[in-house]
Amino acid sequence: MAGSTIPTVKLMMMMMLMIMAAAAGDVRVYRKDLPERRNLLANGLAHTPPMGWNSWNHFSCNINETVIRETADALVSTGLAKLGYKYVNIDDCWAEKTRDQQGNLVARKSTFPSGIKALADYVHNKGLKLGIYGDSGTMTCSMTMPGSLGHEEQDAQTFASWGIDYLKYDNCNNEGIKPTIRYPIMTRALMKTGRPIFLSLCEWGDMHPALWGSKVGNSWRTTGNINDTWDRMMYIADMNEYYADYARPGGWNDPDMLEVGNGGMTKDEYIVHFSIWAISKAPLLIGCDVKTITKETLGILGNKEVIAVNQDRLGVQAKKVRTEDDLEVWAGPLSKYRVVVLLVNRGLASARITAHWDDIGLPPNTAVVTRDLWLHIKWRQRPTGNMTAMVASHSCKMFVLKPVS
Ligand SMILES: *[C@@H]1O[C@H](CO)[C@@H](O)[C@H](O)[C@H]1NC(C)=O
Ligand SMILES: *[C@@H]1O[C@H](CO)[C@@H](O)[C@H](O)[C@H]1NC(C)=O
Ligand SMILES: *[C@@H]1O[C@H](CO)[C@@H](O)[C@H](O)[C@H]1NC(C)=O
Repeated sequence: MAGSTIPTVKLMMMMMLMIMAAAAGDVRVYRKDLPERRNLLANGLAHTPPMGWNSWNHFSCNINETVIRETADALVSTGLAKLGYKYVNIDDCWAEKTRDQQGNLVARKSTFPSGIKALADYVHNKGLKLGIYGDSGTMTCSMTMPGSLGHEEQDAQTFASWGIDYLKYDNCNNEGIKPTIRYPIMTRALMKTGRPIFLSLCEWGDMHPALWGSKVGNSWRTTGNINDTWDRMMYIADMNEYYADYARPGGWNDPDMLEVGNGGMTKDEYIVHFSIWAISKAPLLIGCDVKTITKETLGILGNKEVIAVNQDRLGVQAKKVRTEDDLEVWAGPLSKYRVVVLLVNRGLASARITAHWDDIGLPPNTAVVTRDLWLHIKWRQRPTGNMTAMVASHSCKMFVLKPVS
């Protein structure tokens, strides 16, 4: 008798857990599409690419709790938080150079006197999430704080106890140990805490993390660091595009954080930058000073239609489907049989760029309703077979095409 009741109780508990997980809305993705993720990384996060802010691109090491708090305030007051920019991510330089007597990481007294837990509480009270930074080697890249190599479980517990929601995990001072060894240790450590923590693998694309990252993290850097120049930004966009097939709900290619608003590119160039990141299903992590953000920058980062493409539930990364000298057509499928098309002019003169249906995955005789996501207008005509637009130098045109029957 006893032998049969125990399995029945177990079965009932399993069913209850499954019903609870189904109610939470993520069981289907993990059971059907991504079964292998369950072992290592079943944290239920990143159904769409993460959105938020990170301190590095603008402030590098010059951070403190005031900047972080005021940025959280600014994300709310500018309306960016409402548009989805929820993660407030502290990058390198937040901790003391040495651990405490028990081996715990300690917030830097001079710059984070109230501690990270207080900051997490503050950010959570605003409906936002707090991200932090660590390193899979002996010291972080700035060499001003300890890395987590050999301390993974302890540091994961510390992060969870503080209420951390996101970990960017860097690759410096790694002693030559393979990333495929180092990174999964942190994945397991985070899973063990029981707190869902988004894991961002910052491995710089060294060992092609797109090929193994989906079992280990929620995003993986495919490239070295971005900088605030057109050439570097486009170079990184190209590298990231190469791995398009590996992006999917739960795990995304990461071509690094946004430079929009930092001043090194023109408005049109920043629009190209933001558009490519959006169609590439890249994390949209703002990298400028949100406290002093301009209307122009807000107009780019706050474009709801472009954000909606990034957050589309189909979760397929767009690709470059045609290149003619400096003129490029990028395209990718969206939910509801729609297609996003980005025409990019990398040249120095204005030019007409044509997107052909056989390149962008539409049947040749399909007529489409065409919406321009930067002008916020619908085209009067309904093109069939191809569409052409004039695109200025270092600029783009972005469209969503919706087939009409
Ligand atoms: C905090 O950091 C910001 C940005 O680097 C700086 O402007 C500010 O003076 C710092 N505040 C304090 C109290 O150190
Ligand atoms: C940006 O990166 C490019 C290419 O790596 C490099 O040549 C350039 O000096 C960098 N610019 C800045 C401002 O760091
Ligand atoms: C575009 O399609 C039209 C028919 O809708 C065709 O007449 C025209 O030749 C095509 N243009 C290009 C550049 O393929």
